[in-house]
Amino acid sequence: MTRVIIKNGCIIDPARKTATVGDLVLENNIVQEVIDFAMAPTSYGDEAQFIDAAGCFVTPGFIDIHTHLREPGFEGKETIATGIDAAVRGGFTTICPMPNTNPALDSASMIRQQYDIAARHSPIHVLPIGTVTLGREGKVLAPLIELAEAGAHGFSDDGAPVWDAHIMRQALLYSTMTGRPVMNHCEDLSLVRGAAMNAGAIATRLGLSGWPAAGEEVMIARDIALAEETGGRLHICHVTTAGGVALIRSAKARGVRVTAEVTPHHLTMTDRWVLGNMEPWDGKGPFDPSRLPPYDTRTRVSPPLRSADDVIALIAGLRDGTIDAIATDHAPHTHVDKETEYANAAPGFTGFELALPMLMTLVNTMQIDVVELVARLTLGPAGIVDVLPVALGPGDPATLTIFDPSTTWTVTPEALASKGKNTPLMGQEMRGQIMLTMMEGQIVFRRDNFGVVSRREHGGAVGKLAGVFDEEE
Ligand code: DOR
Ligand code: ZN
Repeated sequence: MTRVIIKNGCIIDPARKTATVGDLVLENNIVQEVIDFAMAPTSYGDEAQFIDAAGCFVTPGFIDIHTHLREPGFEGKETIATGIDAAVRGGFTTICPMPNTNPALDSASMIRQQYDIAARHSPIHVLPIGTVTLGREGKVLAPLIELAEAGAHGFSDDGAPVWDAHIMRQALLYSTMTGRPVMNHCEDLSLVRGAAMNAGAIATRLGLSGWPAAGEEVMIARDIALAEETGGRLHICHVTTAGGVALIRSAKARGVRVTAEVTPHHLTMTDRWVLGNMEPWDGKGPFDPSRLPPYDTRTRVSPPLRSADDVIALIAGLRDGTIDAIATDHAPHTHVDKETEYANAAPGFTGFELALPMLMTLVNTMQIDVVELVARLTLGPAGIVDVLPVALGPGDPATLTIFDPSTTWTVTPEALASKGKNTPLMGQEMRGQIMLTMMEGQIVFRRDNFGVVSRREHGGAVGKLAGVFDEEE
């Protein structure tokens, strides 16, 4: 029997809505007990191993239902192996890769191949999403039942919308048979074609063509109407506008089977970020193009960063449950993909390793409670792609994440395991870091020597209670 005690952390169980400071007792890779620190025994016996989690949060492993692993076809941006490495370093124990690979994941054999490649590398769950249409071309429905039988956990043409309403309707009808959601990237192409960033004052000032909120909302409204009529399972990917949140809220109130996700960047950044953080060229002295700061192409993302009012509405939607899940939309790109004019830059942010520190800014500014936040990273997404249980109570698997909310670190290319270094946060100091990720009792990521406690410290420093040691000395 193996016995591991995670000591003195703040254990968050989103299923029970509890936060308990104390010890998490794991036995044979299963949670045996959560013990409040005031009730913790002075000894757990000689056989127990310890992880000191004082000052840290201990939560179920994060679940990311929207990510891009780029294999096959774009291995220069990311591979399944490097993506998994970045995911565990971001605290994720289940990830759902989107099918915009080349070839696209539009057949049972392509879905099976994802499982095969992932199994070679993965200590975590990799649950692929299949396409809605063949080749993601939007013209012919993919074999959805076959894809689901091969293990697709949802359907999406992500990167592009399912623009044909009839095909969307058919896909929703199939979702009633497969039980898997249709996850639409909502943008009306006639409104957003060629658009570079959010429509508004900053787009106007930069002379970039604007992407109106209605470009997203028109399709959300259409899809809700189709889901309501068919009874199908609709999931709205990366909602970004106040109007979109309102549409989803009222649809849910009517009982429509609709769920939604939001990304860490849309929750924490506005279109002002597009301007970059360089000082504008004052026009004096010799012309130096490197001082021209028209924009930062690393902020280009689809859908685009929106206004401050939108961000406020997204946070409100996340808090009241209109938005079920946070999904990273981890979209790794190469340097070259971003080193171009704004409208030509590949859209997307590297996501896994920055998600938690970005989101902790919301907790630190008291915009969301940490238990609620963890629920949207675990329980919410689990319900959408059907992975249960997600809890840290007796009998639950020891699949968990430990993060330190107060560690600070600087975003550098070397600090990120993902091949994608594309983030406007490069060079910035972040607060909060994943320290350890455990999958069914196995440590799949441990930062430095996190939590290792020697017998010498036994009974010593604050927070290191009796019985904490990892080795005989
Ligand atoms: O910004 C984005 N990047 N949005 C998408 O929908 C696709 C993604 C990608 O694949 O790079
Ligand atoms: Zn998308």
